[in-house]
Amino acid sequence: MTTAGKPARKTPKKTGQDDGVYQAPESIEDVQKLLRNQVYISDRALAVPIFLAMKLQRPLFLEGEAGVGKTEIARALANGLGTKLIRLQCYEGLDINQAVYEWNHTRQVLEIRLMEASGDVDREAANADLFSEKFLVKRPLLQAIDEAEEKPPVLLIDELDRSDEEFEGFLLELLADYQITIPELGTFKAKHPPIVIVTSNRTREIHDALKRRCLYYWVDYPDYQKELQIITARIPDAPRKLAEQVTAFIQEMRQTELFKIPGVSETLDWLSALLAMNQTELDPSVIDDTLGMMLKYQDDIESVKGEPVRAMLERSKNRGPRHGGRRG
Ligand SMILES: Nc1ncnc2c1ncn2[C@@H]1O[C@H](COP(=O)(O)OP(=O)(O)O)[C@@H](O)[C@H]1O
Ligand SMILES: [Mg+2]
Repeated sequence: MTTAGKPARKTPKKTGQDDGVYQAPESIEDVQKLLRNQVYISDRALAVPIFLAMKLQRPLFLEGEAGVGKTEIARALANGLGTKLIRLQCYEGLDINQAVYEWNHTRQVLEIRLMEASGDVDREAANADLFSEKFLVKRPLLQAIDEAEEKPPVLLIDELDRSDEEFEGFLLELLADYQITIPELGTFKAKHPPIVIVTSNRTREIHDALKRRCLYYWVDYPDYQKELQIITARIPDAPRKLAEQVTAFIQEMRQTELFKIPGVSETLDWLSALLAMNQTELDPSVIDDTLGMMLKYQDDIESVKGEPVRAMLERSKNRGPRHGGRRG
């Protein structure tokens, strides 16, 4: 390794629990309030692991179906804390070059040409210069532990289930000590470990080793009360009655056998569509017309259109506020 004999570029610093670099919420209620100010509705069950993740400086692993609000948690948390959100969107084939760092080859080549043109090339000096930070492209994971970050950012590693297992292994190492070694430069170590949120839509299982390092929380579909709160917070202009009917209907729809159950995103999209159509109440035909806002598979749409929608709408009437959100 080229680092042999070279002092580490960054001196590892001990990071205390209370560096006072950002105002961490003092209680679970504070976490809820902080998120609420960002129009994110959280129940206590979710606020507890978020609070602990910050307090214990442990990554938080959020698992759940698509559209239940996992990604949004990281965004709301970063905004609420007034810190940067650094997002790494995972995908198949994601590698170190895209996740951690890469050398800017084009600029390096250009620099070599300039050096050659100017005549005197000291090989050693040129080499050191070409592999200096100037030519380093920092990708999300390196950005998140970069010493230059004064406040610990929120690092969102989104949809980890999409990446390969090899990448998961690398991540495990990173989360162990929040440091990254670049052979030509030395070791980068986070002054303040970032607040790490890992999400998965569970298209595959994530290894136990990684889960063990994290606090775990399953983000479920919201119940009637919570979903109504979410949509009234997000779309405050919606008439109350319509918001209630939409929530009750979606809750009912989630009981149906479907290829893809609608998430909160779909509820919000659907309600916006109904508002755009100046609808103030639900009726079977308008639901049929707008099924594409809730269901994203033609087979699902076909399977509920017509009579099943009518029946669901009837049943959903037992879910309203007078029924405590439950079917009576
Ligand atoms: N508890 C919540 N409070 C406010 N908005 C929410 C909540 N849950 C979900 N949403 C909204 O639902 C949408 C989908 O959320 P997202 O975080 O993208 O889901 P996921 O990452 O789980 O697929 C976003 O527009 C988000 O704002
Ligand atoms: Mg997401």
